[in-house]
Amino acid sequence: MDEMSRLTQKFYGDGNGAGWYETQMGKSPEYALKLFELFKQEGIIPEDEELEGFTLVDVSANRAELEVHLAVLLDRQIKGQEFVHSPKVIAIDFLGKKEGEKEDGSYDRFVSGIQPEKIPNLKNVEFSRISADARQLPLAEGSVDVLFDRLGALWYSVHDKGGGLRRDKTFLELQKIVLEILKNYARTLKEKGKIIVDATQKGMYLNQVKSEKSTAVALSEVGLSTPRGLQDLEDIGLRVKFVGKGADRLLVFEKVDKNK
Ligand SMILES: C[S@@+](CC[C@H](N)C(=O)[O-])C[C@H]1O[C@@H](n2cnc3c(N)ncnc32)[C@H](O)[C@@H]1O
Repeated sequence: MDEMSRLTQKFYGDGNGAGWYETQMGKSPEYALKLFELFKQEGIIPEDEELEGFTLVDVSANRAELEVHLAVLLDRQIKGQEFVHSPKVIAIDFLGKKEGEKEDGSYDRFVSGIQPEKIPNLKNVEFSRISADARQLPLAEGSVDVLFDRLGALWYSVHDKGGGLRRDKTFLELQKIVLEILKNYARTLKEKGKIIVDATQKGMYLNQVKSEKSTAVALSEVGLSTPRGLQDLEDIGLRVKFVGKGADRLLVFEKVDKNK
């Protein structure tokens, strides 16, 4: 087992996380292509001429395999378009290890776990990695078009290793955590920017969603409800919808102007 697998296993134990590591890692190219096509189809990734300064961030990217694939797909899509500000793909994760840790908790160096073996040459797209906690994103206000969280900070903040809701907090406390994270994510979004949450493991619920009321119910069933439900989302300027079908269904929170 390599160092990263060991660290990941240490972080998640033998529960869900470790299982995910074994089964999902190798599937990234197929998943990236499916996701990219869905993003194009839904206008989440726009046409070339609207890609000026476009910024896609994954807030829990692990080793960033998926993000490298997405960056390559985006790069290949662009044909002869010149940009003042190139489209960007940014992979964020707090995974890594502290070197030279002292008793008082200080340490000499933090080595990021986001180290894909190989970053291909990209002509049109800038790819970067940041070691950070998604709950305190080091990103400027209004700078992000697409913020992607697949089984990441949102999921792990409210679920335990077995996949159920954490039992060390009350339901209301968990709802407040979700709201805080969404507020922090929303702060970084441009107008019409989108938070995309992949909750495929609960796809069976998302399949059923049809009305406003069931949207709130579905959010609650995937552990992403907030204390005052859709009202909280409206207050922070987020409108929620679902895209994709079946197990590929994704949750989209779109930033809208609250006053319109
Ligand atoms: C199950 S993996 C999913 C990785 C990737 N999103 C994917 O779907 O292939 C969960 C990842 O979320 C990261 N993570 C969990 N909570 C986080 C947080 N608060 N901030 C940054 N990363 C976080 C973990 O370090 C881990 O790499």
